[in-house]
Amino acid sequence: MSVDTRVNLGGLQLKNPILTASGTFGYGLEFAQFGHLKELGGIVVKGLSLKPRQGNPCPRIVETPCGMLNAIGLQNIGIENFLKYKLPYLPFQETAIVVNLYAQSEEEFAALASLLKKEEGIAALEVNISCPNVKQGGIQFGQNPVLAAKVIEGVKKNAGTKPVIVKLSPNVTDIKEIAKAVIDAGADILSLINTLGGMAVDIWTRKPALKNVFGGLSGPAIKPIALKMVYEVCSNFNVPVIGIGGISCIEDVLEFMLVGAGAVQVGSANFKRPSLSFELVHQLPEIMRKLGISGFQEWIGRLKT
Ligand SMILES: Cc1cc2nc3c(=O)[nH]c(=O)nc-3n(C[C@H](O)[C@H](O)[C@H](O)COP(=O)(O)O)c2cc1C
Repeated sequence: MSVDTRVNLGGLQLKNPILTASGTFGYGLEFAQFGHLKELGGIVVKGLSLKPRQGNPCPRIVETPCGMLNAIGLQNIGIENFLKYKLPYLPFQETAIVVNLYAQSEEEFAALASLLKKEEGIAALEVNISCPNVKQGGIQFGQNPVLAAKVIEGVKKNAGTKPVIVKLSPNVTDIKEIAKAVIDAGADILSLINTLGGMAVDIWTRKPALKNVFGGLSGPAIKPIALKMVYEVCSNFNVPVIGIGGISCIEDVLEFMLVGAGAVQVGSANFKRPSLSFELVHQLPEIMRKLGISGFQEWIGRLKT
C-alpha cells in the first residue's frame, strides 16, 4: 500500500507532519550530525528577538520526573545574526524553516514580522506569546485575549504572505478564550502547548533548583494536558493546529493527530534522543500502513467519542 505523508496546514505545505519545537533543536544546524535536516517536515528555530539576548543566569535547566523544567529566558543570537549566519546554511528549499519570534511589545513583534516577510528561506512565523520564563513580554500577551489579539493584528499586517502561527500557553483558565481572540485577529495556524509554570527545590541547599526560581515544565509529564488542549481547540474552531507537548514516540504523534492536530512538534525529547525527530519521520509509512490509512486526511480529527 503506498502512503502519502504530506500535510497541508491552511496553505503551509509540509512533506510530513514532524517538526521540531522551538528551543529544543537549536537553529537546526546543531542537529545535522544526527540525521538529514531536509527529511523533516519542518524546523522551528530557537525564539529570536530583534537584538541578541543572554537569557537567565544558570542553573536554568533541571530534570523532573517524566520531564524537565527550564528557565532559559530566551537566550538567542538576534534576528539579524540568524538571517546572516544560520539561515543560508539550512536546507530551506527542502524543509519548512519556521522562525519563532519573541518580543517585549506589539511594536517589536510587528518589526520582526516586517523584517522577515521578504525572506524566501522562511516558510512561516511562529509568534511566541507564551514564554513563562521572561519578565517582560511572553506570557503576559498569551494570558490576555485583548493584548494577544493586538500582537497578532500587528504581526499579520506586517508579515506579507507568510503564514502566522500563534503559539499558545497552557497557563490559562480556558484555552478556547485565547484561541478565539487570536483566530479573530488573523492567526493562520495555532501551535500548542508551550511549557507549564513549575518549580523544583533542593532541600540540601534549601534553594530553588533554578536560579530564576520558576521555570517551564515540559516532556512526557505534560502530554495529557497538551492532548486535552489540542482536542478542545480543534473541536471548537476551524483552524489548523500543530500539537506540542511530551511527544516522544510515533504513537504520540498519531494521538495528537487523531484529536485534530494537522502536524506536531517534538520538543524536550530531542535532548534525550537527538535523532528522534528523524526516526519518527522514517517510522511514518509503516505505522500508516498498520493503521490502514494512505494519507493523514483519513486520520486527522477522526477520534471516536
Ligand atoms: C529548553 C527549552 C527551551 C525552549 N525555548 C522556547 C522558545 O524559545 N520559544 C518557544 O516558543 N518555546 C520554547 N520552548 C517550548 C517548547 O518549544 C515546547 O513548546 C515545550 O517544551 C513543550 O513540548 P515538549 O514537552 O515536547 O518539550 C522551550 C522548551 C525547552 C525545554
